[in-house]
Amino acid sequence: MLTFAPYHSSFFMKSIQVHGKTFIPYLSSDEIQKSVKTLAEKVYRDYREENPVFLGVLNGVIMFFSDFLKHYPGKCEIAFMQVSSYSGTQSTGIVYKKMELTKEVVDRHIILLEDIVDTGNTLESLVEYFKNTQRPRSLKIASLFLKPEIYKKDVKIDYVGKEIPNKFVLGYGLDYDEQGRNHPDLYQLEEGRINH
Ligand code: IMP
Ligand code: MG
Repeated sequence: MLTFAPYHSSFFMKSIQVHGKTFIPYLSSDEIQKSVKTLAEKVYRDYREENPVFLGVLNGVIMFFSDFLKHYPGKCEIAFMQVSSYSGTQSTGIVYKKMELTKEVVDRHIILLEDIVDTGNTLESLVEYFKNTQRPRSLKIASLFLKPEIYKKDVKIDYVGKEIPNKFVLGYGLDYDEQGRNHPDLYQLEEGRINH
């Protein structure tokens, strides 16, 4: 009997072009969902007795944030903030805070939700910002993707969905110069390594 891979399998995904660069299929949305679900279940095990605030770092987090919530069965609230450090496919190392927090989080249990941690510059300055200005009751970090070859900071990432190689990725909320966020699957830049 013939068996077929699910429709969303990366086997059936085609390469895409964005701003003249080629991105090849890397993770199907089904595969991403599995990582999101496992991550949400881990967070729930730690926070089931609490009313945590899930704080999404915009814009890249949009798809992860929404899917994470669907897999999180407990009491919770949400908030957002926006920062940016990327210019094209290179981290500038400077993190700009573009938006104030959408919610008062003093004395709350905060879980920062990040789409991806690469150099960790963004994360480091976010954690500094929170410690200095917000005084939450607790602060933990959850990132859907982590590039461990690049991440050398001391900040502990408490929950990681999936470790990925040091290649620029696009889709599932992640952009290349503001394009490509709308693809439900994840793609990798074809030209290999990006240096920081
Ligand atoms: P970091 O400060 O270098 O850790 O980068 C963090 C932010 O840069 C993430 O929240 C993303 O928005 C963006 N970013 C990092 N790596 C990638 C990538 O491979 N593709 C798209 N965006 C990325
Ligand atoms: Mg981005």
